[in-house]
Amino acid sequence: MKTAGKIIGALMSAEGKTNPYPIYREARELGPVTRIAPDWFLVSTFAEVREAMRSSAYLKNRYSNVDENQQAVRRAHRSIQLFDESVLLKDAPEHGRMRKVLGEAFTPGRIAAMAGKIQQVVDEVLDSLAERASAGEVVDFMEEFAIRVPLTVICDLMGVPWKDWSRFRPLAVDLNATLEMLIDDTQLATADAAAAELDEYFSALIECRRAAPQDDLVSVLLTAADGEDGQLDSRELLANLELLLVAGFETTTNLLGNALAVLFDHPEVHGGLLAGKYTYAQFTEEVLRYDAPVQHMIRSAGEPGIELAGVSIPVGAELVMLMGSANRDPLRFSDPDVFNPARPNNQSLSFGGGAHYCIAAGLARLEGVTAVSRLLARYPRITLAGTPVRADRHGLRGFRELPVTLGV
Ligand code: HEM
Repeated sequence: MKTAGKIIGALMSAEGKTNPYPIYREARELGPVTRIAPDWFLVSTFAEVREAMRSSAYLKNRYSNVDENQQAVRRAHRSIQLFDESVLLKDAPEHGRMRKVLGEAFTPGRIAAMAGKIQQVVDEVLDSLAERASAGEVVDFMEEFAIRVPLTVICDLMGVPWKDWSRFRPLAVDLNATLEMLIDDTQLATADAAAAELDEYFSALIECRRAAPQDDLVSVLLTAADGEDGQLDSRELLANLELLLVAGFETTTNLLGNALAVLFDHPEVHGGLLAGKYTYAQFTEEVLRYDAPVQHMIRSAGEPGIELAGVSIPVGAELVMLMGSANRDPLRFSDPDVFNPARPNNQSLSFGGGAHYCIAAGLARLEGVTAVSRLLARYPRITLAGTPVRADRHGLRGFRELPVTLGV
């Protein structure tokens, strides 16, 4: 029988990063909540992950309980500090204030209004691949489609000039390493360098928009920052803009890559979609459950006397909440390892839960549905044409390369 510590080790191994699902099963067999170290717990079942996400007894700011020395170490790393200063890692009352400002950009009405633009972006990317499709050329789906669609959408929404896009993939990948469970010094130094470059880029963009406001998210957030009631300070403005850029596309990129891999692994689902047996919304929802782009999130215990599944959690202890495991919990989903788009009542935990529920879940779903439906309408015979390579990550799960031929 494995211990919780060994489970973490296995998840961080190359094999675990390729396929964490058998390891999650072992984690659930250990129990819903297991202790890795005195102040470190693993939560692997649906009910308990959802409970911890929804409860205000658990905090996002992992360092509110650590001493001044540790906080100073944290502040010394811009990549860590950046997320700390953003909505992602704030707790009440700062969280509510920031969430309100950012939320204006993601109301259902605003997202619905973006449908035409998203469709246009997807079609343009598909058009640009037509010649290579006719020539039967092998293309990397990640590079040529899965990255380009969400990155164009988020750059357009934010008002980030398209000419600057090519730097953003490597910067996001480097910066997002700090969201992993474990990070080494080299990765941290690379993440700090990425944060510094993004700071410089966004500081210049903010100044441009201050001089000449546009109809974009940078200008909207800048107005909130410069207004008399100062809803965001200048550091928070910078941190949240950078968060939106990096959170806004790597996750959605991975949703598209994971979705295509499911089609290759399950030809009957590919055929079912083309035959109209399921909707693209059902398919997208099942991809989110079956192979979530975000596999875990961290919370820390914010008050004394907390118990989760009968396990007592000391103040300040951290919980690694395995959403990827919760989504395969047989107590919540029947035959959880089967990919079934017709699954009833299919609400996974892939967008989180509670106060931090993904602010742009509606946008991500719309991008997923539009991208996959238009891709298959245009290239219904898309085929795997090489060995897919998974990214060397646990938290943000996706492919680094996914070679395909598009077919005509
Ligand atoms: C399939 C795509 C996506 C997935 C799976 C995803 C997943 C998540 C998850 C799990 C959280 C919750 C964090 C927590 O509870 O601790 C979250 C929060 C967030 N997401 Fe997403 N996300 C996606 C797309 C996006 C996009 C497109 C954007 C921006 C345009 C975005 C912006 C955010 C922001 C700002 C937060 C922080 C919300 C808060 O803390 O209140 N996400 N996302």
